[in-house]
Amino acid sequence: MRVILVTVIFVILNIVSHLVLAAEVRIRQNFDFDWKFTLSDNNVDYSQDPGEISKWADVQLPHDWNIYQDFVREAGGAAGYLPAGTGWYFKEFSLSDRELKDRKITILFDGIFMQSDVWINGFHLGHRPYGYCSIEYDLTPHLKKGRNVVTVRANTEGGRPRWYAGAGIYRHVWLNIMNKIHVPTYGIYVTTPQVSEHSALVNVVTTLENSSNKTVEASVQNIVVSYDGKEITKTKRMKQSLNANDSINICQSLTIQNPELWSIDNPKLYSMVTEIRLGGTVVDRYETPFGIRSFKFDPDKGFILNNKRIKIKGMCLHMDDGSRGVAVPDRGYERRLEILKEYGCNAIRCSHNQPSSEFLDMCDRMGFIVIDEAFDKWKSGYYEKYFDEWWRRDLENMIVRDRNHPSIVLWSIGNELQEAWNDDNVGVERATMLRDFVHSIEPTRPVNLAGQNGHKSKFSGVADVIGYNYLEARMLSDHKKFPDKSFLITEELPYYHGEEGNIRAYSTYNPWNIVRDYDFIAGGFIWTGVDHIGESSWPDKGYPNGLFDMCMHEKPRAAYHRSQWNDTPIVRIAVYDNNLDMAHGRDLWQWPKMASIWNFPQHYEGMIMQVNTITNCDEVELYFDGKLMGRNKTSDYPNNTIVWNLPYKKGTIKAIGYNAKNIVAEHEIKTSQKAEILQTIVDRTTISADGQDLAYIDISLLDKDGILSQTDNRNINVYVEGNGRFLGLDNGDVRREKTFFRNSLPTYFGRALACVQASRTAGKIKVIVTAEGIATPSIIEISTNQSTR
Ligand code: GAL
Repeated sequence: MRVILVTVIFVILNIVSHLVLAAEVRIRQNFDFDWKFTLSDNNVDYSQDPGEISKWADVQLPHDWNIYQDFVREAGGAAGYLPAGTGWYFKEFSLSDRELKDRKITILFDGIFMQSDVWINGFHLGHRPYGYCSIEYDLTPHLKKGRNVVTVRANTEGGRPRWYAGAGIYRHVWLNIMNKIHVPTYGIYVTTPQVSEHSALVNVVTTLENSSNKTVEASVQNIVVSYDGKEITKTKRMKQSLNANDSINICQSLTIQNPELWSIDNPKLYSMVTEIRLGGTVVDRYETPFGIRSFKFDPDKGFILNNKRIKIKGMCLHMDDGSRGVAVPDRGYERRLEILKEYGCNAIRCSHNQPSSEFLDMCDRMGFIVIDEAFDKWKSGYYEKYFDEWWRRDLENMIVRDRNHPSIVLWSIGNELQEAWNDDNVGVERATMLRDFVHSIEPTRPVNLAGQNGHKSKFSGVADVIGYNYLEARMLSDHKKFPDKSFLITEELPYYHGEEGNIRAYSTYNPWNIVRDYDFIAGGFIWTGVDHIGESSWPDKGYPNGLFDMCMHEKPRAAYHRSQWNDTPIVRIAVYDNNLDMAHGRDLWQWPKMASIWNFPQHYEGMIMQVNTITNCDEVELYFDGKLMGRNKTSDYPNNTIVWNLPYKKGTIKAIGYNAKNIVAEHEIKTSQKAEILQTIVDRTTISADGQDLAYIDISLLDKDGILSQTDNRNINVYVEGNGRFLGLDNGDVRREKTFFRNSLPTYFGRALACVQASRTAGKIKVIVTAEGIATPSIIEISTNQSTR
């Protein structure tokens, strides 16, 4: 949920921030800057006194201390060989009497990994084990005029997830300042129970809170504003008497004529503006984006959005972004989603935990369907020790925080639960308990569970929409047994599919073909969309079998799903060679090693190579050095992949895609020579001077003819000067050495990607990129300005 600021005035005095509160009704102050940080051992307690604070590092949030550390083999591959530990954060800020008077002030952490403790002025506000939920504490009784101090401890020892989850305050932090009579954080719940093109019924439940010690008479009015700022309709002002220190829910309804429906192609949003008045004076104004859409999962027709059947073309994503670890500035996710949208992906499964609110805001704005997932495992794995005490609060946090996002269509209560294998009813009862809890607080979306190989049908049958991980074949027979159930592939292999009872049959018929061909299957989510850190075996530090690498470079092999998900005609050449220098990753999730490359060693000369053209065109012609090798029909080959055999010889391979008689797509690969040119392309030359915004610089090595030089990799160095800072260098190879965070790295298949972050001072960032053995560096200038995005 987002709250739009009325006005924010912020003065920074070194590390002491001073909040100037004018007559605004609500302030949502970003609290990401001017933190101090130290790593310590588990037994040190800085909660009352940080000691020599000048020795602590200056950091800004989002922050993931793990990503700066060296790899330690004993730390284990699940966490990408990055060690567990304890970190402390410390921030000073200042308040005046006037700022404190008659206000409620809370601090909201969007996520702390994990086992966090928070203190204000030495007072312990609370402990929260889970690292994915948002955490809000009321600071009001503990604040004082002048200097105040927030201290945070995060601890990742004693058990972590099965993949890399980072460490520290890795999402935004907000200071919320409101009047005593207000809407609490996440206190608005908008639903659209009746939707047609002609009209929509919109219900809104407003939680009104009185944190003063007087009874008050307040009024609540909800106003619907269109995406372009026009007032559409509003409720009457509803008067309400409210006792001291009490809260109440107020239900109101509105009708919108000819609504603009939210959809994947046209994700139109509205805004619910909630105004609270005391007498004639507005004391709170809270803004909640929402969308108007109808959807259902149908046992025969799959997923239906606004009365139209849509195949869910999804990806499972973890939340890390290469060398930024899990501390991903918003622009990092925005770029990722832009690339995935262009690719043809229309859905994200947030595997296996709730993402940041900002990520969901982007899915709303950009038109993605989302599965919001609460847990991986319940009473097995690291969450086992927390489950009984915390599951309800953690699940409730996800649902109440995220319930207004139109992108979310399923609440997943868990992935691959150990309990799914049980013969007894323990798992079924636990699943029912979670499902019923979700239904009781948010009945508008179905509940989903992701079932692993060998799960019992009685267990997955608890879900409203059953998710199958890698079990397309079993799903086909389950559909016959349970014709009233709705089905979804929650995890799908990128290349192989299994048989019923044997998921390791390694059949090369792509599982997407099955999802595509059966109407009753709502869609599928590839495991995994993007390579992530962790879940690895040395020397890999990450998971290499995604469709995109950590730079968000689309792998040549990913052309198959592009050919299926995207109507734009394509043909891509991908050459198979088992000796290509690629991490192979885990067995079932692998692909045969392929790259768009025609540079092989001398001794390959004359050897027959398997050249694949992956396409959605009707036919493809292949040429070698201008000579036609043949013309083949795509429909004669499985998986939209025409296989050619060519003896290796240096030269040029060109593929031409035809629909009917027309040339609609082309792709060419050439043997390249040694790297002589360093090419850099920045994604945006002007970014915001907000201390958060990013520019990504694509780095390529080219030969003298401008061809990507993929086998002459060189060491790259990146230096940043001016109004910005270096924020990581990646090359897409998960076999990283020493550490993720360094400004020096070899190219991989001739490419790399640097990331730079703006400071809070408008001006220029100068980025200097050098490549070993290439005399001329590349200099990139990026302007930063104060305009907010
Ligand atoms: C699945 C699991 C995922 C991931 C994947 C392999 O079974 O649900 O979380 O571990 O295997 O990488």
